[in-house]
Amino acid sequence: MAALLPSLLSFSCLVLVFAAIPISLSLPFVVFHGIGDECSHPGVKNFTELLSNYSGVEGYCLEVGNGVWDSWFMPLEKQAGIICDKVKKMEELKEGYNIVGLSQGNLVGRGVIELCDGGPPVRNYISLGGPHAGIASVPLCGSAIFCRLADELIKSEIYSDYVQDHLAPSGYLKLPNAIPKYLEKCKFLPKLNNELPQAKNSTYKERFSSLQNLVLIMFEHDTVLVPKETSLFGYYSDEDFNSTIPAQQTKLYIEDWIGLKALDKAGRVKYISVAGDHVKISNSDTRKYVIPYLQG
Ligand SMILES: *[C@@H]1O[C@H](CO)[C@@H](O)[C@H](O)[C@H]1NC(C)=O
Ligand SMILES: *[C@@H]1O[C@H](CO)[C@@H](O)[C@H](O)[C@H]1NC(C)=O
Ligand SMILES: *[C@@H]1O[C@H](CO)[C@@H](O)[C@H](O)[C@H]1NC(C)=O
Ligand SMILES: *[C@@H]1O[C@H](CO)[C@@H](O)[C@H](O)[C@H]1NC(C)=O
Repeated sequence: MAALLPSLLSFSCLVLVFAAIPISLSLPFVVFHGIGDECSHPGVKNFTELLSNYSGVEGYCLEVGNGVWDSWFMPLEKQAGIICDKVKKMEELKEGYNIVGLSQGNLVGRGVIELCDGGPPVRNYISLGGPHAGIASVPLCGSAIFCRLADELIKSEIYSDYVQDHLAPSGYLKLPNAIPKYLEKCKFLPKLNNELPQAKNSTYKERFSSLQNLVLIMFEHDTVLVPKETSLFGYYSDEDFNSTIPAQQTKLYIEDWIGLKALDKAGRVKYISVAGDHVKISNSDTRKYVIPYLQG
């Protein structure tokens, strides 16, 4: 009896130790912020923390370069490449992870899903206000000093090699009245969306369609994305910026260039519309449409 006691004691200590470690089957999540923002800014920091608080899951905001500046001036393929290297090095993501994208950060996220060779698997992808089908107007920059540079670039030839290499949003500016030029010269979105007939890469489709859930959230009063329907893969159908068509009527969907249709047919796409301006999601909508996909 006396001999048994110490081992019983250490056994119960072990049990206590294990009970104290919260065992979670949920995967961690990563957040990609939008243009002109950075992980250390209170808004993004709070949002990441809020998602962790609500879900009980570990989450990380992943930065590209120095934040604000690079979000404007580094081409998106390069941004996605930097994140690809980061996620491959993170032990925490080894078993897979979920992505929450904010605005332009969605194209970084989708770049990682589709283009990252040897990266850990992405399970759920929740997209808030993502310019997935392009935008017909560049987001307003504001009055900061670097905005003068951005504005100069925007005013010059948007599909020139120079602007394509130095202004991130030019990589998804899809002017409805200049589609041939967009297809020829725009360096990012045509590739990401497998839009180029001679250059489709089935790997992108394979990877994108392996998502467990794709949650697309559009903001009904979005004043940044033109048109707002781009958040749900909808876009202008004509040359005059007039009427939009839903994803299901686009060639990307019908010919299933990236697997959106396959995912949809499998019931894994959620098309959601919430009240509010660009990525201004309420706490209750966050609980309803984001949190469930972050929990196991
Ligand atoms: C961050 O969250 C705290 C606590 O929820 C809140 O009081 C504060 O206003 C938030 N700040 C921003 C910038 O959202
Ligand atoms: C998250 O929870 C912590 C601990 O309860 C709290 O201090 C913090 O303000 C919360 N953050 C947000 C954004 O709600
Ligand atoms: C397709 O994309 C993958 C992932 O980036 C890449 O490894 C592969 O070489 C590409 N294939 C072609 C034919 O370009
Ligand atoms: C948009 O299209 C409608 C009919 O399709 C037409 O009546 C209207 O004039 C157009 N508006 C513009 C601004 O082109």
